[in-house]
Amino acid sequence: MHERHVVLGVSGSIAAYKAVDLASKLTQAGVAVHVVMTEAATKLVGEASFRAITGYPVSTSMFELTNPHSIEHISLSEIADLFLIAPATANVIAKVAVGLADDLLTCTALATRAPILIAPAMHTAMWENAATQANVKTLRERGVGFVGPDEGRLASGGYGAGRFAPVPDILGEAHKLLGANGDLASKKLVITAGGTREAIDPVRFLGNRSTGKMGVALAKAARDRGADVTLISGPTDRSTPTGMNVIPITSADDMLRAVQDASPEADALIMAAAVADYAPAKPSPEKLKKEDGPLSIDLERTIDILDSVRNVPVRVGFAAESQDLLENAAQKLDAKGLDLIVANDISRPDIGFASDHNACTLIDRSGSIENTPILSKREVANHILDRVVGLLDRAAAK
Ligand SMILES: Cc1cc2nc3c(=O)[nH]c(=O)nc-3n(C[C@H](O)[C@H](O)[C@H](O)COP(=O)(O)O)c2cc1C
Repeated sequence: MHERHVVLGVSGSIAAYKAVDLASKLTQAGVAVHVVMTEAATKLVGEASFRAITGYPVSTSMFELTNPHSIEHISLSEIADLFLIAPATANVIAKVAVGLADDLLTCTALATRAPILIAPAMHTAMWENAATQANVKTLRERGVGFVGPDEGRLASGGYGAGRFAPVPDILGEAHKLLGANGDLASKKLVITAGGTREAIDPVRFLGNRSTGKMGVALAKAARDRGADVTLISGPTDRSTPTGMNVIPITSADDMLRAVQDASPEADALIMAAAVADYAPAKPSPEKLKKEDGPLSIDLERTIDILDSVRNVPVRVGFAAESQDLLENAAQKLDAKGLDLIVANDISRPDIGFASDHNACTLIDRSGSIENTPILSKREVANHILDRVVGLLDRAAAK
């Protein structure tokens, strides 16, 4: 996200204070955030907060130039890789829809050629008003993106539609738009994450320690590089990422069917999920009663997903091994005809499951072996995706 510029338009909604968090998260992601506030917004949240968090001057007026050599609304509109209006009042949405340009925010909206993303926030009656709905429809038809609003408790004390979308949702959509021209643009990636749960009875299951961190990191990194991502995810402790198609599943069988459905369209399949190898052969329809003595449960093999889904140009597997890492991973690569395998040594407590970090060994079909240092899962994800980009190029050249 470095060298990417977001112009963040903040208008006079009670949710304006949440835009400070949004500006902070974008800044932390390496984005240069240039805040433009309407006059009403300055009455609800201080411009000093945005200035301190973003490190850039905050623009509030067309006639107070921070750079004497430029015309503010033109320079902002040109610098923007994305114009994000968050929160957007009913008033600002109406003005942008009809092309009014009577302040710096709306002038910039009219002048920019960057994609525009709007996160509305208002009272339910204002949101549901036919005028607002018609304005939103007009803007959507012109290619303007919307995120939210959500339903929930409103500042007025009521409950309904109009609540500012959660900041992670807005970030997801913003990252997707910022990455639209990345090296995975127009590629369809199917990524799996998390562990599966195999029912023993209606309340118990066989599971594993996968948290979904690696798969979700891969999905977000791929989205931010322009990929059209389908994330097929078992239960994880991650919040559901946005800016992608997320398909929640529970069991290995669910995951198999979801991957089979998604694979005909996919350019690459990355199986980062920890899929059960065995499942109870006959899950009990009733809760099992506690009895004296041991309990045995018959397990049967689940269908190996990577082995059975071969109709994708690039297929990447993960091997979590506690012994003979390289031999086992290489054997898996061979047996399943994979293009790349990412081997993780799960005997190390500092990396792997549940950790925010990972170090892995990448083995490809040519037999080349690459060891990564300990990196954040995001960095590992980007490293794997660098290899996927190369594999996609090679597959396209065949
Ligand atoms: C405390 C307060 C909260 C407001 N919250 C909202 C809001 O959430 N959404 C909205 O559309 N208007 C809200 N308004 C009304 C707008 O501030 C008003 O329409 C204003 O003209 C918007 O100006 P702007 O769109 O240029 O920022 C609020 C007004 C006040 C005084």
